[in-house]
Amino acid sequence: LPEGSKQMIEAHELLRKFYHHLLVNTKEGQEALEYLLNRGFTQDSIDTFQIGYSLPSWDFAVKLLEKRGFSLDLISKAGLVIQRENDGTYFDRFRNRIMFPILDHQGNTIAFSGRALGGEEPKYLNSPETQIFNKSKILYNFHLARGVIRKQQQAVLFEGFADVISANRAGVENGVATMGTSLTEEHISLLKRNVQAVTICYDSDRAGIEAAFRASNMLSKAGFAIRVATMPDGMDPDDFIKVHGEEKFRNDIIGSSATLMAFKLIYYRRGKNLQNEGDRLQYIEEVLKEISTLDKAVEKDLYLRQLANEFSLSLDALAQQLNQLVHASG
Ligand code: UTP
Ligand code: MN
Ligand code: MN
Ligand code: MN
Ligand code: MN
Repeated sequence: LPEGSKQMIEAHELLRKFYHHLLVNTKEGQEALEYLLNRGFTQDSIDTFQIGYSLPSWDFAVKLLEKRGFSLDLISKAGLVIQRENDGTYFDRFRNRIMFPILDHQGNTIAFSGRALGGEEPKYLNSPETQIFNKSKILYNFHLARGVIRKQQQAVLFEGFADVISANRAGVENGVATMGTSLTEEHISLLKRNVQAVTICYDSDRAGIEAAFRASNMLSKAGFAIRVATMPDGMDPDDFIKVHGEEKFRNDIIGSSATLMAFKLIYYRRGKNLQNEGDRLQYIEEVLKEISTLDKAVEKDLYLRQLANEFSLSLDALAQQLNQLVHASG
């Protein structure tokens, strides 16, 4: 570990406990607690995920950590406080936010993400990259989920904190999150060391579906068995659980997730009117391209037949065009 890392983690651990206490036991944390309970968080999930609350104060963390003997230079390098340019004094990065501790894969608190209580920007304020926190290497909740992932030989990949936490409450305990939509090669090799099968369950808004498409291609290149779960009406997993309940989420969303090809058909269909000839031809060509990338002859045949049936095309014509694609991409 680089010098100072151990103290940086200690500072995070101390703050995590204080933030949690402030949320759960104090009058100052009451509004934040009500916000969470209104959203469907439970006391249990607040405890399991050690959620907290940071006061509106400009120097709560500065004072607390200084009093405990941490150097201001160290805690500013850890991203917990920020130095003012004009007079060199320090102030708290996280103020008046719901605090989600981010743990490394050993269970050390190495960063925070603070959610605004209202519509302030950014919605989630994150710790910066530091010597102990590299967002592209960390999957949120991997520490708690690893055992379940190994046992079930299946991981579920979410975008956000609330998705992981609500899914966990719904009994889906093998969930981890990329904390946004960018899945990295480092995330993939971490998963690869633990599991062969991944269900992508990103938000079903435009950004989430685009990201799920990218992630599915990266994961399939890396050799995972992939399924993709989508929600109706642009919802995210947490929204869905709130509206339709835990059982429907387990059965109709995770349990009925699409195969990779089925998801790609959904993906290419979006924003197209298949009654329109131009759109229809484009769709057929996009799907043919996907089919051309399949390794197994049986799969190729299956999807080719489906496509032929759906659009009343001759299998010969489709197969011929498929061959051209295969040769063109060579
Ligand atoms: P979303 O925009 O989907 O937010 O971002 P969300 O998780 O549904 O948030 P809620 O339900 O409104 O509370 C997905 C994830 O991207 C990261 C967070 O990890 C978030 O959970 N993110 C999002 C940020 O880091 N900063 C932001 O400003 C927004
Ligand atoms: Mn507690
Ligand atoms: Mn999103
Ligand atoms: Mn979301
Ligand atoms: Mn959400």
